[in-house]
Amino acid sequence: MNLIDGKKIAAQIKEEIANEVLAIKSQGRKVPHLAVILVGKDGGSQTYVANKVKSCAEVGFFSTKIEYPETISEGELLDKIREINQNSDIDGLLVQLPLPKHISEEKVLETIAPEKDVDGFHAVNMGKLVAGLPTFVPATPAGIVELLKRYNIPTESKHCVVLGRSHIVGTPVSLLLSRKSNPGNCTVTICHSKTKDIKQYTSQADIIIAAIGQPEFLKADMVREGAVVIDVGTTRVSDPNSSKGWVLKGDVAFDEVAPKCSYITPVPGGVGPMTIAMLLKNTLQSAKNK
Ligand code: GUN
Repeated sequence: MNLIDGKKIAAQIKEEIANEVLAIKSQGRKVPHLAVILVGKDGGSQTYVANKVKSCAEVGFFSTKIEYPETISEGELLDKIREINQNSDIDGLLVQLPLPKHISEEKVLETIAPEKDVDGFHAVNMGKLVAGLPTFVPATPAGIVELLKRYNIPTESKHCVVLGRSHIVGTPVSLLLSRKSNPGNCTVTICHSKTKDIKQYTSQADIIIAAIGQPEFLKADMVREGAVVIDVGTTRVSDPNSSKGWVLKGDVAFDEVAPKCSYITPVPGGVGPMTIAMLLKNTLQSAKNK
């Protein structure tokens, strides 16, 4: 069993980005600038946003964090997004999800200017992904593909089973791995909450990508010997023995699944750090596109 070290690969990517920022500075050009909007006090979202802002500083980007209370109106949030769209100093904008129920996620994502949508969630950018055109690839799927690439894990002609059909992970990673490229050229099966007998699919898979947000869903008897398992789950499960009162659990029962795998990502330290590294890459790309 080989552990896929997302922390190490993310650090490599950040170093590559930091070197590009040094080159940008030495040419007297403006460094990339990411704006992040956080609404409400969700613990997970606060941690993710704090890590995004910290990572910007680490690679030499400028960042702006805008925080709003849970009670902000949809109109006020949309106005702020429109203002940032017009601000030529800002290269990338993301609104951390999920949003409070009274705010339409769809309206928010469609208001972000596609050329600043470093999350790649705008319908224009999703459409470009489907059409195989250059675009901002959503960071988590991009991170998964980058891990497969940097570990030289073969994907051509492999059967990849994706658990989950979200817009953020399941759907885009299915597109990326089925398209004619390397990594890619997989035969992809998407399983979701209405799939009957998920084990029937996972037990035939060469590669399993688990992105359903159900802690320890994937058990050893669902995985064949030699499979590659990528765990995207990050659920906080209460644990009185932990100083924080919770522990992070992936979608994979790691201890029992890992011995059967050729490669597996841990949680934490697998896909998570890659998500931020790829967001930084998209922000750098956005600055370069200008
Ligand atoms: N919430 C969970 N993942 C993400 C992400 O990649 N981007 C944003 N904006 N919100 C998220």
